[in-house]
Amino acid sequence: MSQIVFTINGKKHQVDGKFGPDVSLNEYIRNVADLRGTKAMCQEGGCGACVVAVRAATPPTQEMRTFAVNSCLVSVLSCHGWEVTTVEGIGNRTVGYHDIQSRLAKFNGTQCGYCSPGWVMSMYSLVESKNNDLTMKDIENSFAANICRCTGYRPIADAFKSFAKDADERLLNKVCDLEDLAILKSCGVTCAKQCPHKKKHISEINKKVEKKEDWCEVGKIDNKMLTIDSTNHKWSKVYKLDDVFKSMNESGDYKLIAGNTGQGVYHVTDYPKNIIDIFNVVELKGHIVDVNLIIGAGMPLAEMMDLFLTMSSENEDFSYLKQLFDHMDLVAHIPVRNIGTIGGNLCLKHANNVFQSDLFLLFETVGGMVTVAESINKKTVMSLPDFLNIDMKGKVLLNVILPPLSHCCNVKTYKIMPRSQNAHAIVNAGFLFRFRQNSQLLEKVTIVYGSISPTFIHASKTETVLVGKDLYNNDTLQLAVKTLFDEIIPEEALPEPSSAFRRMLAVALYYKAILSMCPEGKVDPRYLSGGQTMKRMISEGNQIFDTDKSVWPLNQPVPKLEALVQCSGEAVFANDLPRQQNEVFAAFVTADVVAGSVIESFDATTALKIPGVVAFYSAKDIPGDNTFTPSNMPFITAEEEILCSSKVQFYGQPAGIIVADREKTAQKAAKAVKINYSFVNNGKLLLTIDDVLKSPEKSTRVVVNRTIEPSETGKNVRSIIQGEYRMESQYHYHMETHTTVAKPTEDGMEIYAATQWLDLTNVAIAQCLKVPVNSINVVVRRVGGAYGAKITRATQIACAAALVTHLQGTPCRFILPLQTNMKSIGKRLPTSCNFEAGVDKEGTIQYLKLTFYQDCGHVFNEVIAPLTAEHMRNCYDIKSWWIEANSVATDTPSNTWCRAPGTTEGVAIIEHIMERIAYNLNKDPLHVRLLNMAKENPIPEMIDQLGKDSNFKQRQEDIKKFNKENRWRKRALNMLPLSVGIFYLGNYNSIVSIYHGDGSVVVLHGGIEMGQGLNTKAAQVCAYALGVPLEKISVKPSTSFTSPNSIVTGGSIGSECVAFATKKACDILMERLKPIKDKMEKYSWEDLIKQAYGAGLDLQASYMFSFNDGVKPYNVYATCALEVEVDLLTGNHDVRRVDILEDTGRSLSPEIDVAQIEGAFVMGLGYWTSEKLVYDKDTGEILTDRTWTYKPPGIKDIPADMRIYFKRDSRNEFGVLQSKATGEPALCLAVVVTHALRDCVRAARLEAGYQDQWVDVGNPCTVENIFMAAGHRLEHFKLK
Ligand SMILES: Cc1cc2nc3c(=O)[nH]c(=O)nc-3n(C[C@H](O)[C@H](O)[C@H](O)COP(=O)(O)OP(=O)(O)OC[C@H]3O[C@@H](n4cnc5c(N)ncnc54)[C@H](O)[C@@H]3O)c2cc1C
Ligand code: FES
Ligand code: FES
Repeated sequence: MSQIVFTINGKKHQVDGKFGPDVSLNEYIRNVADLRGTKAMCQEGGCGACVVAVRAATPPTQEMRTFAVNSCLVSVLSCHGWEVTTVEGIGNRTVGYHDIQSRLAKFNGTQCGYCSPGWVMSMYSLVESKNNDLTMKDIENSFAANICRCTGYRPIADAFKSFAKDADERLLNKVCDLEDLAILKSCGVTCAKQCPHKKKHISEINKKVEKKEDWCEVGKIDNKMLTIDSTNHKWSKVYKLDDVFKSMNESGDYKLIAGNTGQGVYHVTDYPKNIIDIFNVVELKGHIVDVNLIIGAGMPLAEMMDLFLTMSSENEDFSYLKQLFDHMDLVAHIPVRNIGTIGGNLCLKHANNVFQSDLFLLFETVGGMVTVAESINKKTVMSLPDFLNIDMKGKVLLNVILPPLSHCCNVKTYKIMPRSQNAHAIVNAGFLFRFRQNSQLLEKVTIVYGSISPTFIHASKTETVLVGKDLYNNDTLQLAVKTLFDEIIPEEALPEPSSAFRRMLAVALYYKAILSMCPEGKVDPRYLSGGQTMKRMISEGNQIFDTDKSVWPLNQPVPKLEALVQCSGEAVFANDLPRQQNEVFAAFVTADVVAGSVIESFDATTALKIPGVVAFYSAKDIPGDNTFTPSNMPFITAEEEILCSSKVQFYGQPAGIIVADREKTAQKAAKAVKINYSFVNNGKLLLTIDDVLKSPEKSTRVVVNRTIEPSETGKNVRSIIQGEYRMESQYHYHMETHTTVAKPTEDGMEIYAATQWLDLTNVAIAQCLKVPVNSINVVVRRVGGAYGAKITRATQIACAAALVTHLQGTPCRFILPLQTNMKSIGKRLPTSCNFEAGVDKEGTIQYLKLTFYQDCGHVFNEVIAPLTAEHMRNCYDIKSWWIEANSVATDTPSNTWCRAPGTTEGVAIIEHIMERIAYNLNKDPLHVRLLNMAKENPIPEMIDQLGKDSNFKQRQEDIKKFNKENRWRKRALNMLPLSVGIFYLGNYNSIVSIYHGDGSVVVLHGGIEMGQGLNTKAAQVCAYALGVPLEKISVKPSTSFTSPNSIVTGGSIGSECVAFATKKACDILMERLKPIKDKMEKYSWEDLIKQAYGAGLDLQASYMFSFNDGVKPYNVYATCALEVEVDLLTGNHDVRRVDILEDTGRSLSPEIDVAQIEGAFVMGLGYWTSEKLVYDKDTGEILTDRTWTYKPPGIKDIPADMRIYFKRDSRNEFGVLQSKATGEPALCLAVVVTHALRDCVRAARLEAGYQDQWVDVGNPCTVENIFMAAGHRLEHFKLK
């Protein structure tokens, strides 16, 4: 039988018909090769968690090349002849770490670590493919594939840029400084200082990777068709076009596969019987230049880009290809472009006309043609629009033909996206202007747009009216924009931005093109920058803090304890438990129906017939309580069902569980379960706060949670300001989706859960299974990002997994697919408010009446309105404020804690009001803020300090000048103060044990390490308190049996509480050791412990932090100055610089606190700018449930210049060891970006001739909202 042969980390693997086309390389690596370092999240090429390196012979030259791929998008059957390298293959604890791994670790480029293997392998592939010949710019531009939700990217960018040939001194110095950090040993084996061990093994591993030619199969590939037959599928790997036709003709139903990345855009759930792998077909590769440039349709996009670059510089007739290259740089990302082909892209467009294909747009703009073959001898050349209309059954797209363009032609293309990279086009546009010889009169014009409607390609009327015209005068311009506006009528296509926006944007892009080409003198110089695309400088960052060496390792800047193992993929997450005997996988069957409908029964017959499906369970199968939020737990106010038992509360509610032998089978079978409803609700749903407030159900759906009364009211009211303000939801975007692995044990069950709360998981599972709490062992080594989502919501998945194990008696893995995670799990609470403020003539609030509402989802659980009201005070004097805090129930998933819950919303509201006051009175917003500030507040001083550090005043002046000189670009610089109250949540224990063998120490605690550096801080405190080096300390997984009754880790406070408990436990130990110590004159730690052991001393102590410890809440203070630039013609923006001054007390661990501040701030930037959730208004179904449609910031969306300063000489008399919490506050600062963006819009509107009036950009300040707020009119688009 034929086999697919490839290697993983040098080890040969042979794959036969046991594996179907839907077994991805990722599934194979993780589940068959049992290499768990490579992660997965989205399964659609959108997150980068799964990136691995591949070395393979690439046709037509068969040159060996190294390239990154998304292992989730590659079928394992596509891997014939490949040498796959995973993160374990480049370095590990035993043989030593690769420089990329250790540098990422040392630069603190990893927090939860879930994304880290993907980053490492992207970088490794990049370095290998470019032979280390990389600039900082190249490097920063090469990570569109990888998302990190924790770090805010700055340290990752720094770590990788330190490898650049032009790496700046700051980075190189840092590399030197970090080189000797003992805490991060480059290998796990104890050896001499010079560490020949490491060198030896690294070179061995490198040899293994380099000796790849040796492995036999590459040489053996003889280009003969290879067929892998299985019961359901036949996979044919073909090398010749002839064989493609033979295979197509032999098989009825078939599917061609080239790079197979198209499934990342349009998911493929069912494969036909015959799959024909054409990736290596030689006739589809390469290029030739006759008069035209003819490129094989099988050429990967990356190779095409290289070709464009070379051709554009070598052949004048093809100089336009540089423009196409630049555009292609915005298409997908490197791993997709490495294997995704031209043909695949165009055929996706062929099959789905609505697809915003950039290739189609580019080729059509320049008058490209395609060749389609229906047999080896029958080939037809046709235009791209014609290609869309033919039947491709039995045909192959052979090549693309690009014409030469004379110097009379000018090509401009644009792609506007919701974030800087890795996003499909909101609108893409291509313009080709052909001028008459030696004239400015137009001979021919081509105007192509994407993302208008499935049928719209050319703006043909505009193309016609422009012929013979002089392009560069106002009349022609006005004629063009009016004609364009008339003929472009985009279809509404949720979740895509509105038709109105896309229409005007399309017109603005035409104007942009004209501005970019217009000769000097014909255009007002102030308009010129409108013709440029946003140019972003290479990002940089500075972190300025003091460190007190006398208390080291406390307050010492150290990388995370686990950083290295995270960067090598050795760090273990819940789903990294090795394969278990008889393990099963589970998936939720969701009630995809309008809320209020009633479930009658389930029909799982079809699902159960799918091979591999084992069982179906519903609420009836739960032996105990059907709730994952038991009311006997703190903070929980309502019981929510694990599985919907009758009335559906929201679209997508989990209602059943399918169990199967594979993850994908379970997920597929879950969709095949039919739910019968006894009642389908046709009534109007109440999906938003507004819906509820307008409905007759208002009285039952709105609850007043708290009212804050004023203690006095000012009499000096000169101005009254009224308004409304709203903010939407945010998806947590934890890279590890909700996951639990349950495993039977002799006395119950072991639960490997990605949870922030051991105790809740423990109690809820026990109650749902009706078993003793002590029979459930919850184990959490770490969590791959949580941000509040895994406080209570994780328990639903944990209960479901435990139920399956309980009923099946086998281990069960429950991994929520991203789409279910986004559909069925609640998010940040949307908030809206209305207010009236009476102020005196300077802006001091005389009274404030404010009512706000927070959308809890379908149930009043995790109500945060009182918290929001509390945090609204920020740093201000609230004596004259009246605040009413309401919670609202809507027909949506139960919303939940999301990083800085309540604080984000409260601060945003009050800061909005400060801005409104300042605007109304025409005052400086900082002036208004200072007037209203509470007394005894360090903020004025911090504002002053940051003003100096950020050169605030001078830069404001520079900005004024810039704005005067630029009509279509505006900048703004704003500052925001912040004071956040930090409070304690409950019990956390810590057990410190000293081993007599060598004096090494183990800490066990009840907190959860989820990237915030809790373990590192605990270890630092422990080392400090015991007086031993940090390397002596190890922190073990958190478990419910060593840390029962622990409270949730959240609210930024977990690290401090665990540190507190650890310190106390250490104090107990030191107290016990004292008598022995006192007797020893000179001693080493090891001797002391030996003596203590001999004396029968208990070398283990524990302490539980609780409210009884008398700790007091305290405030974290911060200020932030942010400068942004907006391109008004696209709505895109660039955060040019951010300065954050935060009072961290005496930081327990400065590098970790910097990382927390940066990560939180960037998550906030995402919330306020690009993270837009869209729902179906009739059903409540989420429409942005994928990486394709939901866009957290990427590496090029962060502030180009990010400077973090810790407040100097700060101490916190109330906190633990004088420190302050850092995990959340900085997120609240990010709202400053909305103020700056609004100021840019305001400046643009004033220049456009609008009256000065308050303009709400709308949250989040997306590209659409910014663009639309600018209020463009066609007549604004002029040259002079
Ligand atoms: C994360 C991500 C982001 C992306 N972003 C963008 C973007 O911004 N802009 C954009 O334009 N595209 C984007 N894409 C699409 C990407 O360009 C395509 O996935 C890729 O080019 C498809 O090539 P492939 O070889 O992998 O096709 P495959 O997935 O192998 O095939 C796709 C389809 O084409 C058919 N096919 C392939 N080759 C031929 C041929 N020669 N003849 C006949 N039929 C053929 C296949 O049968 C299949 O139906 C993105 C994709 C991903 C995953
Ligand atoms: S899992 Fe492959 S890119 Fe997200
Ligand atoms: S460290 Fe990148 S997602 Fe957590």
